Amino acid sequence: MNAPVRLSERPPTVAPRRIHRARDNGCVSDSGIRINPSILAADFVNMQAELARIAGADFVHVDVMDNHFVPNLTFGPQMVERVQQTSPVPLDVHLMITDPDRWAPGYAELGAASVTFHLEAAADPLALARRLRGIGARAGIAVKPATPIDGLLELLDDVDQILVMTVEPGFGGQSFMPETMPKLRALADEAKRRGSSVWLQVDGGIGESTIALAADAGADTFVAGSAVFGAADPDVAIAGLRAAAARHAHAHGAH
Ligand code: DX5
Ligand code: ZN
Repeated sequence: MNAPVRLSERPPTVAPRRIHRARDNGCVSDSGIRINPSILAADFVNMQAELARIAGADFVHVDVMDNHFVPNLTFGPQMVERVQQTSPVPLDVHLMITDPDRWAPGYAELGAASVTFHLEAAADPLALARRLRGIGARAGIAVKPATPIDGLLELLDDVDQILVMTVEPGFGGQSFMPETMPKLRALADEAKRRGSSVWLQVDGGIGESTIALAADAGADTFVAGSAVFGAADPDVAIAGLRAAAARHAHAHGAH
């Protein structure tokens, strides 16, 4: 039996794969709106075919859950590396795990374009964000619905994306929580005030009606699981979400 690959033990001379890096800072529509389908709602045993159905997306959202930070378990770096090798679009990895300080860099090393960890779980979020950027990934920080954003403001210049969870993390198919929108508005105002190009992401319960609320509040990057993979044609669903968001997008999103 082969020994398991331990990403953190790879020699530093091994260059990380950067399969889709050319599109890191771009997006399909060039409108400043990004639609990132979540493979949590995909058929796990037909992942290659599922990924082929979302070629019109900007990123594929990859939910890593560890049964500790959230009461659900998905997959780890070995699976994410195969998704990285197979996906037609870059990876937006969302780590719902404890001790991201230790584990998050491995996902950047395997070539994920964006790696987001939870503020509630990180011991040193600033150092971790800088480390992810140093490896070459976009650095993201997520907050659960009840977590205040105060701790994020001092990190704004050191991250590329802030994820405001619009459901309790752990499961797909939950209802959007509109009470999270004031946090998004405050972040959008602060980003605008500073001239920041940080992306503001929402995740959970996003569909054609709720995406309008989130875009109105200042989000520019939208995760959708069931609304995309539950549709007969995921690319049509992506286009519908994109159009709905565009009707409500803030000017600051078009960077
Ligand atoms: C929830 C995950 C989400 C989930 C969203 O913890 O982070 O990415 O897949 O699923 P929907 O869009 O179905 O709410
Ligand atoms: Zn997610």
